[in-house]
Amino acid sequence: MSSAAGGSDFAAAMMGLHERLDALLFAHQRALLDRDLPRARVTLAAYGEALAAHVADEEEHVLPRYRALGGDATDAPTKLFLGEHGNLRAFVADCAQRLVALGERVDDRALLEVLDREATLKNLLLHHDLRERNLLYPFLAARLPAAEQAAILAARRWAGGRG
Ligand SMILES: [Fe+2]
Ligand SMILES: [Fe+2]
Repeated sequence: MSSAAGGSDFAAAMMGLHERLDALLFAHQRALLDRDLPRARVTLAAYGEALAAHVADEEEHVLPRYRALGGDATDAPTKLFLGEHGNLRAFVADCAQRLVALGERVDDRALLEVLDREATLKNLLLHHDLRERNLLYPFLAARLPAAEQAAILAARRWAGGRG
């Protein structure tokens, strides 16, 4: 165990999930590029489920510990992460609705609107990723006992599988 080296295994394990999420979103956008709406819907649903599970894990297991250790006194208080999670969930739900509204015909304008919407989602994801990568997880890795870090990893409902 190398958790004595600042808990970087913990941060890497959590941040690795963002790469898995990005891969799932990429699979969805490839389906959009192929104008394969059934596959686009299924892959977006898979992405949304994984994202929701990851966010729920953070809200249940990560953010309460962050708050207890003083995270709210930093430039990235708990409510900021919660607000971003809410926005991410709302954007994915909005994109899913747009895909349903497309029906079976792939209209150029409607397809571009979905891709534009997803570009905004990706921008939100980028900022959220950086905030967790640079602030949340290093903060916890430096302060949370190794056993607590291991407990979080073990308690996750989504650890990167499926998709
Ligand atoms: Fe995360
Ligand atoms: Fe998050």
